[in-house]
Amino acid sequence: MKTMKKTIKVGVVGCGYWGPNLIRNMRQAPDCQLKLICDASEQRLRHMRRLYPDVEMTNSFEALVNHPEIDAVVIATPVRFHYEMAKACLEAGKHAFIEKPMARTVAEGEELVSLADRNGLILMVGHTFLFSPAVRRMKEIVDSGDIGELQYIAARRLNLGLFQKDINVAWDLAPHDISIILHLLDEKPVSVSCQGSSHVTRGIEDVTMMYLNFRKNRCAFIQNSWLDPKKVRTMTVVGSRRMIVYDDTEPLEKLKIYDARVEVPPHYDTFAEFTYSYHYGDAYVPYIKQDEPLKLECQHFLDSIREESSPMTSGRQGLEVVRILEAAGISLRQNGTAVALNGDARLNGVAEQSTNGNGNGHGPGYDGVVVPAASRAVLAA
Ligand SMILES: NC(=O)c1ccc[n+]([C@@H]2O[C@H](COP(=O)([O-])OP(=O)(O)OC[C@H]3O[C@@H](n4cnc5c(N)ncnc54)[C@H](O)[C@@H]3O)[C@@H](O)[C@H]2O)c1
Repeated sequence: MKTMKKTIKVGVVGCGYWGPNLIRNMRQAPDCQLKLICDASEQRLRHMRRLYPDVEMTNSFEALVNHPEIDAVVIATPVRFHYEMAKACLEAGKHAFIEKPMARTVAEGEELVSLADRNGLILMVGHTFLFSPAVRRMKEIVDSGDIGELQYIAARRLNLGLFQKDINVAWDLAPHDISIILHLLDEKPVSVSCQGSSHVTRGIEDVTMMYLNFRKNRCAFIQNSWLDPKKVRTMTVVGSRRMIVYDDTEPLEKLKIYDARVEVPPHYDTFAEFTYSYHYGDAYVPYIKQDEPLKLECQHFLDSIREESSPMTSGRQGLEVVRILEAAGISLRQNGTAVALNGDARLNGVAEQSTNGNGNGHGPGYDGVVVPAASRAVLAA
């Protein structure tokens, strides 16, 4: 690990739709100097020059990588460039922040994680929502046990566009939902299935539905779409005692906690005695202090560099998201077959997850689950 001086000098590559937000926050972060902005497009550079006349600009990524003063690079280019750019930065001894998803394949992600480890450098992935005060509050509520046992999560992230040419809607939007779900459940899924269809660009799904199957009969659904007239950003987190509805489009009341549940009688002798009891209690809106997630995210990257500590959204966390997306892609091509994610979960979780808890076996069980080659190797070991 390079000894870090007080002011961290940062370069940013990619000033399209998202990059300027990172640039603005890096520019405003204390003890950080925005040293160089890079984009292949002269038009984008002209625009950035108007906003930041005192910052160096270049259209050459090589100039950024070889810049002797730059300590850390923020990569906000399309996903097909992430691996090569991050690899070049890490090989040049620069810390790297990569936008989500961190890479196109698990193999690329693994290589970046081990390269950062070997060179003692910070590798962070832009899973911005984990820095959202609403998601942080939701995590505190789940961890406190207030909602009881977490049973399932349903996420919907829909809007009209923005159509991408090189990745489908799951790779574009689901990283946000997956990162939040893994954070809340604090474990990896056992298997993933995904179905979808393309309506605008042949071969690039613009509507997908993903199903993540976790141990102990827990699951999550993720619906993503670029073909919806309304912007929808909701997540329902169902616990055995209470339920949380998170709506990120709400300006203030992003979380609502419902005191709602269904109870099954503990004992009954005849079917006539069996009744569900539906509990409807109060709903309340917890207070959440407003703060820009991106500001917290940029600050966390700088703090991790300065403190030489692993970021909350490290390369390893980013890799888990890519692992799920890659398995979802295999499932998509097999029309929704469940794809196993790792040997550990299968060995530990097979008995619990092959039933839905009522013993009727609904949901993808282990029979018929496709095991990718990497997982088969783990299972055979
Ligand atoms: N965290 C979030 O909430 C969030 C939101 C939107 C996008 N993103 C991510 O940000 C990244 C960028 O997305 P976007 O929508 O801004 O893309 P974009 O296409 O709008 O912008 C990409 C920019 O990179 C530049 N570029 C491409 N290749 C280059 C190269 N070789 N050298 C220098 N510049 C190059 C392009 O000229 C363009 O200006 C993606 O990974 C995306 O998933 C994250």
